Amino acid sequence: MNAPLKIGIAGLGTVGVGVFRLLVEHAAGFISDRSQRPVVVAAVSSRDKGKCRGIDISKVRWHDNPVALADDEDVDVVVELMGGSEGVAFDLIRKALENGKHVVTANKALLALRSVEILELLKKSKGTLSCEAAVAGGVPIIKGIREGLAANKISAVYGILNGTCNFILSEMRSTGCDFDDVLKEAQVKGYAEADPSFDIDGIDSGHKLSILAGLAFGCVPDFSSVHIRGISNISPIDIEFAEDLGYRVKLLGIARRTEKGIEQSVEPCLVPESAPIASVDGTLNAVYVDGDYVGNVLFTGEGAGGEPTASAVVADIIDVARGRVLPFLGMASSKAEILKPADINERIGSYFLRLIMLDQMGVLADVSAILRDCCVSIESVLQRGHSFGQPVPVILISHEMSEGGMLKAVKLISKLKSVVKSPHLMRIETFGTIY
Ligand code: NAP
Ligand code: HSE
Repeated sequence: MNAPLKIGIAGLGTVGVGVFRLLVEHAAGFISDRSQRPVVVAAVSSRDKGKCRGIDISKVRWHDNPVALADDEDVDVVVELMGGSEGVAFDLIRKALENGKHVVTANKALLALRSVEILELLKKSKGTLSCEAAVAGGVPIIKGIREGLAANKISAVYGILNGTCNFILSEMRSTGCDFDDVLKEAQVKGYAEADPSFDIDGIDSGHKLSILAGLAFGCVPDFSSVHIRGISNISPIDIEFAEDLGYRVKLLGIARRTEKGIEQSVEPCLVPESAPIASVDGTLNAVYVDGDYVGNVLFTGEGAGGEPTASAVVADIIDVARGRVLPFLGMASSKAEILKPADINERIGSYFLRLIMLDQMGVLADVSAILRDCCVSIESVLQRGHSFGQPVPVILISHEMSEGGMLKAVKLISKLKSVVKSPHLMRIETFGTIY
């Protein structure tokens, strides 16, 4: 039998506990069989040793300082599950790679924001870095792109990348509950990030999208060029109107290769209710990849939570045990290109614009004049309720046009006295022929 692979886990929260449990339950059985060597948890670290976590850590070494795992000679693989792009998580990964250890992490924030440093460390390290759990929880999208679709030139990767937001939007639609209550439920269930604004403001999806774009297009992940809008301004009215028009609201991350560069966006979008992605609900994630030879491929499954995420982390550990870890971006770090971002203002699309405006004579004419001046052509207008002089919701659906023109119009419309709340803009995404 080959020598055991010794694991050190930093962070015993939702994911860390899931990984610990999965390894303890199955390491002696199918995990060792598939790895062709025993896999054992040798050491752990977290903030609070005495915290009740429902797992027995008495038989493994404890380190008060997680970075000590990188110097522990009896640890072959450092599994970083603390989170955060700064501080101890980065220190641990850096030290582990400098010491030639293998790293497995679920930390998308760190990979998205510090990819340049990580790639530099990897160039010099005998160790490797695996991060299947960093994108779409239990869905093997990283292996899918890097290995299964390695023969394709990829033109786009897009989908639902945040379980918390998908859960919130699905619950708001099915229960009519408001945003704050549903967010609390997602936090209790362990889906949300430590700072939930990362989820609801679209930042977490942006982190994941930039990693996917790096893999798909062979470039250094570039979070700073992701155009981001979150879901916290979505009201039940938007969801209701969208449904009346035959759409569902989904927070989508979209990365496309265009002639002018790479377009990356995260924003709530209207998708036709007949589209497969429209019925991906709850914490499920769904990622489409468009490859030139394979065509359109859909990956879907649980995108958050301790067990699905542990599944991805332990798959990476098994790869290390098998001695078959591929480079982070599927190619030598030195080959990754610098991403050239496309100007989002030039992106073409149609839009859903919700206004809350006073029901008065001539107010729509003011809005129409702005739209005309900004070259925005309207396909339909919907007004609910009539209460002269009182605020009413008005929905405008635009024809296809450049985003820059629409943004300019929205800015001017928001200054009208009759518009009593900030306008809410959402893109309508039909993804060409796939529906
Ligand atoms: P979590 O429940 O908040 O757990 C974080 C753990 O890290 C806690 O056990 C905490 O210690 C420990 N920790 C934090 N700062 C530390 C420090 N300075 N020193 C030592 N230990 C420290 O987070 P999580 O949900 O498991 O997420 C972990 C990572 O997985 C993050 O990168 C996250 O983005 C990623 N991820 C999460 C999910 C998910 O569904 N939750 C899915 C995919 C990826 P104590 O418990 O002792 O306080
Ligand atoms: N907070 C993240 C989500 C966890 O809701 O998708 C998984 O990355």
